[in-house]
Amino acid sequence: MLVIFGATGDLTKRKLVPALFSLYRQNALEHTSVLAIGRKDFRSGEFRTYLRSESFGYADDTSKQEDFLEKIDYLGLPINDPAGYEPLREVLQAHSDKNIVFYLSTPSDLFEPIILGIAQIGYNTASARVAFEKPFWLDLESATALNTFVAKAFSEEQIFRIDHYVGKETIQNILAFRFANTLFEPLWNNHYIDNIQITATESLGVENRGTYYDHSGALRDMIQNHLFQVLSLAVMEPPHALTSAAIHDEKVKVIRSLRLGTDLASHVVFGQYEGYKQESWVSTTSDTETFAALRLEVHNWRLKGVPIYLRTGKALAEKKTKVVIEFRKNASILYNEQDNIDRNRIIFEIAPHEGISVGFNVKEHGETKKTRAVWSEFIESKEWPEAYERILGDLLLGDHTLFTRWDMIEESWKIVDHLVNCKEHCPILFPYEKGGRWPQAADELLAMDGREWYE
Ligand SMILES: NC(=O)c1ccc[n+]([C@@H]2O[C@H](COP(=O)([O-])OP(=O)(O)OC[C@H]3O[C@@H](n4cnc5c(N)ncnc54)[C@H](OP(=O)(O)O)[C@@H]3O)[C@@H](O)[C@H]2O)c1
Repeated sequence: MLVIFGATGDLTKRKLVPALFSLYRQNALEHTSVLAIGRKDFRSGEFRTYLRSESFGYADDTSKQEDFLEKIDYLGLPINDPAGYEPLREVLQAHSDKNIVFYLSTPSDLFEPIILGIAQIGYNTASARVAFEKPFWLDLESATALNTFVAKAFSEEQIFRIDHYVGKETIQNILAFRFANTLFEPLWNNHYIDNIQITATESLGVENRGTYYDHSGALRDMIQNHLFQVLSLAVMEPPHALTSAAIHDEKVKVIRSLRLGTDLASHVVFGQYEGYKQESWVSTTSDTETFAALRLEVHNWRLKGVPIYLRTGKALAEKKTKVVIEFRKNASILYNEQDNIDRNRIIFEIAPHEGISVGFNVKEHGETKKTRAVWSEFIESKEWPEAYERILGDLLLGDHTLFTRWDMIEESWKIVDHLVNCKEHCPILFPYEKGGRWPQAADELLAMDGREWYE
């Protein structure tokens, strides 16, 4: 049984229910029913009516919708009051399925009372699993305290920390592309790679999430989790096997070997879009960064000295997520002697489209010594599973590969805490136009190294 806490929220209606419906259509939910929990006082029938209107605009095939909805019951519960969990005990006791997965789709400050409530009714059994949405709290101290608290009720094997980015097909494809091809892996080192750029920009502002975002900002909301996950896959050593433990071991080694320049002010850029302080639920004196760009290095044998540039922000001109691997320039003594020959590049594009492109040079038609850059592209088919479908499917199977292990969170927070601290000591927050371009300082970050963002 899948028990979703916070089922009246945005994530459940927009992502979890459509993903569950898709799993249902693939007969992957045959033995799983869903208990939706929220603080609102719905009856199950009313909640299904709510889902009919709120969720099914997002699913493309509604033919089995009614059968699927029959699998979902609703329970109103004072989620933040562990003493009020008796009605949940009664529902779980009456249910024949004793393999219970608790999914915490609530703000992080409810994680502790929910865990306490589950433990108090005795349902933190050895076969239970518990999944947490991001963010895994606010900094290293609060995350460690939360982890220690959860560890009293559940073992690490029972805990699934979600980062839905890792569920995206192209992000998983980074490993396959690197380690299933003789062509690329020998070049994946500091002899051939010039720099790595990871971008995740959004065109939307904070919308109605000001309360959360104003305490979070780009560093905590995107870099600590999504961007570090992507970075670790792009630069990690080959795992000894494609097992969850082996992959997590290599990922955490990457985060441990990340280095920021000692002169932080010239390695970090923060920005805030104009009008952010006037958004709902945002402080009128807020210094929260809605944009961040960083220059990092990974201090390992393979890639030492290769700059890794990250940038992420809200309310920018375009929504795009991609990883660009730029190779060193060809010496160009044979071709394009006058002009520079273009670099080779590999691009993993995650949004707005998913796919992988390899950029290389060919002879310019009709010329002898001139070349031009061309691209070879793999475009991911439209039939890919949505990230939450993979996440929920793997959660129900108990496969940890796409979830975040505690040591990765711990190491990531160490770096992000350091950056947050830096922000407090060098409080330069560059303004940028809402819906426009990022602060120019982010261009200068690369220009100082003689490079530029590849768009
Ligand atoms: N939405 C997304 O696209 C998205 C993406 C990635 C991660 N996440 C994460 O997923 C989690 C859920 O996100 P969401 O967007 O669904 O959040 P949400 O819309 O704010 O709702 C979360 C749920 O928590 C309940 N809740 C909030 N405060 C409560 C309180 N004090 N006491 C009892 N219940 C309370 C809400 O109940 P009411 O409906 O009664 O308010 C709702 O059921 C968050 O941790 C978020 O960071 C969300």
